[in-house]
Amino acid sequence: MKLVLQNVAKDFGPQRVLDNLSLTLEKVHTLALIGPSGGGKSTLLRILAGLEYPTSGTVLLNDAPIVYREEELLRHRRSIGTVFQSFNLFPHLTALANLTLPLEKAHGHPPAAAREIARQLLARFRLSDHADKRPAELSGGQRQRIAIARAVAIKPRVLLFDEPTSALDPEMTGEVLDMIEELRAEGRDFVLVTHEMGFARRVADQVALLAHGRIAELGPVAQIFEHPTSQVTRDFLARILKY
Ligand SMILES: Nc1ncnc2c1ncn2[C@@H]1O[C@H](COP(=O)(O)OP(=O)(O)O)[C@@H](O)[C@H]1O
Ligand SMILES: [Mg+2]
Repeated sequence: MKLVLQNVAKDFGPQRVLDNLSLTLEKVHTLALIGPSGGGKSTLLRILAGLEYPTSGTVLLNDAPIVYREEELLRHRRSIGTVFQSFNLFPHLTALANLTLPLEKAHGHPPAAAREIARQLLARFRLSDHADKRPAELSGGQRQRIAIARAVAIKPRVLLFDEPTSALDPEMTGEVLDMIEELRAEGRDFVLVTHEMGFARRVADQVALLAHGRIAELGPVAQIFEHPTSQVTRDFLARILKY
């Protein structure tokens, strides 16, 4: 994907949460967003997803500006696959129905076609045994894998994931990261907020460190982790890699 931010700012009341972010990534497959808590990562991801309006500035995805008006955003959201930390699935629906609902309601697939797409995806990700279970009957890792399958089902232009493993224990984290890596290897484009530095290093091609609403550092993954130029990045990495 090509991603351009031009002076993107976001205020919540008196608080400036994103402070005139600008960047140009001509060709990036996985952009990892890292940085201290409260730095603005989720806000930026929600702006990319069209779930939040910027206060000012422009976002271009593959050369097309995201138009922050409700009708255009409805269309935009349908072209994006999002996965958040938790609470992604409808609790009263089975795994299968969680996949078919957006295919039918937002994308206009007839029920039988939606079921076919959903079943194929569940099979592909070795989740078929869970098709008829509700989220409460699944492990956290299985829930996130269903959520990822649902995000992929709509053939999104880009996948936006916000700390998809931070609510999971290490074993489940592994199975979710494996699935992301598989999708990455298929050539899907991601913007991924993560605290998993080892994983970011393995899958990301570009890394942006966001702190206090600013991009403290942006560059190829090896540069950020091996030769960080900003003190903010060095301090952050020292803190997060300490244990
Ligand atoms: N809906 C909101 N209303 C008011 N303040 C918010 C809202 N969402 C986020 N914030 C504030 O914006 C700042 C950045 O938050 P966030 O984007 O969640 O950071 P991160 O994901 O990097 O931890 C925080 O100070 C947070 O409290
Ligand atoms: Mg966040």
